[in-house]
Amino acid sequence: MKSFHLAGLIATSGILLATASQANLIPLISRTNIQESPKKNPASALPAPGINQQQPIMSNNDRPVDPFNADPTPNSNILIADILASQKAISIFAGFTRDISSLTSRLNSDSTNSTLLAPVNSAISALPRKPWEDPQEYSALGSNAYEGQEGSERAEANLRRFVEAHIVGQSPWAEGEKLKTLGGREVWWERRKDAMIVMPGEVEVEKVAKKVGNGEVWVLKEVLDYARK
Ligand SMILES: *[C@@H]1O[C@H](CO)[C@@H](O)[C@H](O)[C@H]1NC(C)=O
Repeated sequence: MKSFHLAGLIATSGILLATASQANLIPLISRTNIQESPKKNPASALPAPGINQQQPIMSNNDRPVDPFNADPTPNSNILIADILASQKAISIFAGFTRDISSLTSRLNSDSTNSTLLAPVNSAISALPRKPWEDPQEYSALGSNAYEGQEGSERAEANLRRFVEAHIVGQSPWAEGEKLKTLGGREVWWERRKDAMIVMPGEVEVEKVAKKVGNGEVWVLKEVLDYARK
């Protein structure tokens, strides 16, 4: 592995991975509490002291049942940033989003919706190189392309490009609707038999993991195209 100076990134991702594996040991009830914790604002949404912190799940029988949706009733009090840590299948991607402060704010905002197209951990681990490594930079700058302050900045920019290639700045997102990722590439999705496929890369959606107040988290079986444009 090439050496580089992204200590913060590694530390954060490491902590996240550790947290994710430890979460196996945490009884289900405490994980539920984490998932259901109400957002911080507005204060008026907070229950009075002594009242159960969990928000009631409203039923909405008019909503069509989506076989890919594990949680068909969006809970508008919960935001994407609140539930990412509990999504073990995508903990690596979740860690990346936390390393980019503008994205953290976005996922923590109730006024901006996003569809997170989060590749499953195994898809990121299987990449031929780390998401922040760019083969063009290795050929131009050699093996220490990610050392020093400038190397660290290069790695951060590359990681941002990777993450932004996996976020659509809108939710809900209708089938066939062509939208741009935050990275600027056009994407859409279509149903094929029982599967949802993100186009044009034909990446299958493993599941729609969560629908919350500011968007949805989809788990993808592979990464999307994140090469420099
Ligand atoms: C944002 O997402 C929520 C939850 O799905 C939805 O109710 C709301 O209409 C969306 N807002 C916009 C502007 O799309």
